[in-house]
Amino acid sequence: MAANQSKLIFEYDVEGRHGTQVVGGMRNGRVEDHKRRLPQNLVASERLPLPQVGELELTRHYVKLAQDSFGIDTGFYPLGSCTMKYNPKACERYVKHPGFANTHPHQPIESLPGFLRMFADLQDWLADMTGMDQISLTPAAGAQGEFAGMLIFKRYFESRGEHQRTVMIVPDSAHGTNPASAVLSGFEVAEVKCADADGIMNMDILNAAIEKHGAERIAGIMLTNPSTLGTFEKDILAVSERMHEIGALLYYDGANLNALLGIARPGDMGFDLIHINTHKTLSTPHGGGGPGSGPIGVKQHLAPFLPHPHVRSTSDGFEFYRPEQSIGRMKLFHGQFGILVRAWIYILLHGPDGLRRISENAIINANYLQARLKDHYPVRYDKWSDGRDRYCMHEFVASCGRLKKEVGVSAKDIAKALLNSGFHAPTTYFPLIIEEALMIEPTETESKELLDSFVDVMLGLHHTARVDADKLRNLDNLRVTQLDETYAARHIDVRWQPEEQGSAAAG
Ligand SMILES: Cc1ncc(COP(=O)(O)O)c(C=O)c1O
Repeated sequence: MAANQSKLIFEYDVEGRHGTQVVGGMRNGRVEDHKRRLPQNLVASERLPLPQVGELELTRHYVKLAQDSFGIDTGFYPLGSCTMKYNPKACERYVKHPGFANTHPHQPIESLPGFLRMFADLQDWLADMTGMDQISLTPAAGAQGEFAGMLIFKRYFESRGEHQRTVMIVPDSAHGTNPASAVLSGFEVAEVKCADADGIMNMDILNAAIEKHGAERIAGIMLTNPSTLGTFEKDILAVSERMHEIGALLYYDGANLNALLGIARPGDMGFDLIHINTHKTLSTPHGGGGPGSGPIGVKQHLAPFLPHPHVRSTSDGFEFYRPEQSIGRMKLFHGQFGILVRAWIYILLHGPDGLRRISENAIINANYLQARLKDHYPVRYDKWSDGRDRYCMHEFVASCGRLKKEVGVSAKDIAKALLNSGFHAPTTYFPLIIEEALMIEPTETESKELLDSFVDVMLGLHHTARVDADKLRNLDNLRVTQLDETYAARHIDVRWQPEEQGSAAAG
């Protein structure tokens, strides 16, 4: 363990130490006395393998961990594709209202008419925002929304007897969850290369893929718009027309919806099915891998296959129901309740004009950063192939390829140096088609002053790389030593078990 790393709570364990004073305090006796008063069948026969620590050690431990954590409330978090925006404290405050916080998933639904009303509102608002006919709120993340979407595509073609439609077209800039969801649902992925064609899907690429795989075998295409390069898919109407002409469907990955609110709708572009990363676009603190929520939206022809439970209105209110040919449940109960409540509040707080301003400001902020950084960190797609200047949408991908080649400083070195400077790193090495990629998404919630201070640091690091590259290549003041990321991913082990106490302490 590095000298400056926090200890594990188990390392504070001292036999007999405890942090609480049981009801009545020391005068009335200790835990043993209280145990005697409990029904004996409810008293644990063995001591739970929990660390024995005093209240003060416990408090200091968790306060220190909280201070060591980086979040949007502590600093700038330009993690492209992930939309790490500030979450208004009003959402946090209202979601704690006892009417939301104290509902129980097993409570009879008749006792919760307001809850169903809120779900119905959210379904309607998301449908309006995206141009879809129906929304299902239950998937628990963008990736799970994609999986639900692919299962719906599958079920749709099966219901039409078109079992031969097994090919899903996915561009080379796609997020890894796109091909993963397609494969998991039984599709074969046909990757198409858009990197050399302005980075976007065009008719030549699409027609070549259709010819190669056969129109009757193609089930659909998965696109995000703007793409992960921060570029609007300008040929999207022609793409969707062609896909529908051959009887195939279009899937919209909503991770980049923060660029479109109130400006354009995937439903109007011809998409048949979408997911919405509610936790990104509609604001929920979601660093470190969770929590997420990935409602899906469909055009009417796919509505019979939606997951259940789905909310619909009745003559005297609302009810949960199971669509006739539903793909089934994606999650226990009713989806990620807390996130859905936050999204409902967030939409109410902003209203239609406010939502549009979100996207406009997200786009302006990204273009400001792109313009200020691109001379030092080249942006591969800052011009169209005909030479015209190209603006980005809500994010852009800069490259450290030139620095790497000329002075050996990589995107990873710059990212780590940024962490040392008090900024979270942008997304690195994604999309894969840009060498030494730094994918930067400032979001609408940051001020010009903050963006300027980020630029100052980025330009300063560029200067350091040029005059003293070793300083960046040998950073030794990180709070965490360099992790073996491949080992960590392949041998994931996040659960502490009592017999591992010794090794955990050594870890
Ligand atoms: C473009 C894109 N699609 C899909 C996903 C998956 O979303 P989630 O992390 O909610 O599963 C992400 C996540 O970052 C993404 O950036």
